[in-house]
Amino acid sequence: MKQQLETIRQSALAAIERTAQLKELDDLRVRYLGKKGELTALLKQMGGLSPEERPVIGQLANEVREALANAIAVQSKRLEEAALNARLASETLDVTIPGKKPQLGHKHPMSIVLDELKDVFLGMGFQIAEGPEIEMASYNFTKLNTEEGHPARDWQDTFYLREDSSLLLRTQTSPMQVRVMENQKPPIRIIAPGRVYRKDEVDATHSPMFHQIEGLVVDKGITMADLKGTLDSVLKALYGPNTVTRFRPHHFPFTEPSCEVDVQCHACGGVGCRVCKGEGWIEVLGAGMVHPKVLEGCGIDTEVYSGWAFGAGVERLVLRRFSIADLRLIFENDIRFLNQF
Ligand code: PHE
Repeated sequence: MKQQLETIRQSALAAIERTAQLKELDDLRVRYLGKKGELTALLKQMGGLSPEERPVIGQLANEVREALANAIAVQSKRLEEAALNARLASETLDVTIPGKKPQLGHKHPMSIVLDELKDVFLGMGFQIAEGPEIEMASYNFTKLNTEEGHPARDWQDTFYLREDSSLLLRTQTSPMQVRVMENQKPPIRIIAPGRVYRKDEVDATHSPMFHQIEGLVVDKGITMADLKGTLDSVLKALYGPNTVTRFRPHHFPFTEPSCEVDVQCHACGGVGCRVCKGEGWIEVLGAGMVHPKVLEGCGIDTEVYSGWAFGAGVERLVLRRFSIADLRLIFENDIRFLNQF
């Protein structure tokens, strides 16, 4: 029996040392030390031993049991460490490698200028109004003192959506003047940026769709001086403090008096060059005192209130702001162009 115990000790120790996985090790533990294990089976035969032999074998059996238990514990620890090391090695992360920078987009030049304009006007106490691009002819024309027969109403110039010419793609943001005055009591200070549509062929300065920004002020005692002062400050904010403006008489059906506003050519300083086509000035917007007929049509008492309005083409402001030569670049979405902003 002593011999058997030694055999178990040797083969078990060797087997334990050979294990490569915790599962194998556990199987060995059950096989040798478990209730139905080899060592346990052997000890059950101790009843057949002589009284002299029994303590000797008993002691040896305990030694073998302890040796196996020890070896299993040591091997178990070794395997756990090896498993951990293997995992660490496979999951190593070099935190010193430079990160991948996600490419961020940026604002379109149109948005840059629009946001600048909004900032300036919001700072002056204006609010932003929005309205439909599909507009009623009554708002786009009639309520703006633009009667039937006016050339702007021509089918050649305007995208009508119905045979009876009652619905159209707005040709200007000016209908927003009426929409705001019909819904709001003075004092009114709003700007209304948005898309407008006209039957134009695409070229370096024209597009059938473009953007305008409308402005409207209605209050007590508003005069042409307010119009000039405000627009002069806005254009200086947009183009720099040395910007020179000129207010030139003009005609719009819905303002009286009306004017066009020019900015002195940045390229030649007013002498006349290729950029300003020899004029020395570049036209940037239309404006005027809101026509009494328009005010009264919106139920505003012209004995008490007066107002001024302007409308500017945003693309044109953008071209001037960044010295861009061709309008089409704004819509083409060529990344080589857009990346420059
Ligand atoms: N709506 C006019 C245009 O498109 C511009 C304008 C707006 C003029 C407001 C006067 C007042 O040309």
